[in-house]
Amino acid sequence: MVAHSALPARRAVLIAQITDIHVGFGPSGGGVEEPNLVRFRAALERLVEGPNRPDWLVLSGDITEHGDAASFATAAALVAECGIPVLPLVGNHDDRASLVAAFPRVVLAGGGFLHHVTDAGMGLRIICLDTLEPGRHGGAFCEARARWLAERLAEAPDTPTLVFMHHPPVISGIDWMDPAPDEQWIARLAAVLEGQKQVLALHCGHLHRQIGTSFAGIPLGVTPSVAPQASLDLTGIDPALPDGRALITAEPPAYALHRWDGQSLVTHYEVVGNWPVLARFDAGLQDMIEGMFEERG
Ligand SMILES: [Fe+2]
Ligand SMILES: [Fe+2]
Repeated sequence: MVAHSALPARRAVLIAQITDIHVGFGPSGGGVEEPNLVRFRAALERLVEGPNRPDWLVLSGDITEHGDAASFATAAALVAECGIPVLPLVGNHDDRASLVAAFPRVVLAGGGFLHHVTDAGMGLRIICLDTLEPGRHGGAFCEARARWLAERLAEAPDTPTLVFMHHPPVISGIDWMDPAPDEQWIARLAAVLEGQKQVLALHCGHLHRQIGTSFAGIPLGVTPSVAPQASLDLTGIDPALPDGRALITAEPPAYALHRWDGQSLVTHYEVVGNWPVLARFDAGLQDMIEGMFEERG
């Protein structure tokens, strides 16, 4: 790695979002580490050893494949090595009790749901939502959860707020992963969020592929997975007709980095890999960089 004489970063809160790790899936043993753990470790190493060490790490669900205590303990131990405060959410593959056991700073909110609110710094509030209905692949957002969210939003109507949840409440076009357009939990969530101007963005996981859209008038992003991605195929699917299409592809792990500077929220995405560097800020490119700064005045 090249040491660069960087000025201190401009003051901002950095929130990394890692999603859909699925610890506990795939072959391991005999000295071979399971593939999703290799991918998870690579993403965490990038956060810790790269130039953008985050202030917070959101794990937006499907942390494990089977929701078992051993897989959660493995995930929690790897995260603890990083020393970055973690905000974990449940996905449809997870189990609330096992998550709480592995991340003891997380407590269940009223109603037994795994929601939490965090003051992220520089006036930003983070709300993490529980969209799990055990046994169901798709999301859920019942009346009790809608009340909880409405109360939290009413507490701080003028505080910029970033909301994380596992299930994206939108149609992506990747047919086999999508909810039905008329699912009641989606309408219930929209009714709570409609007109809540303090909500800067919603960020989700679950889809295993990056998308950007909006929901209830609020920007919505889905962060790609640490586990392999869902293949980009937007043609309709007939569940009764296995047509041999690609469902999952071995694309590299990726994550999101949300940057809040007190004025605006910007989300970056990075594909994790040891990529060749094609240009560096060295003497040969100094004129170009100086020219760009001069242009800025
Ligand atoms: Fe997932
Ligand atoms: Fe999921």
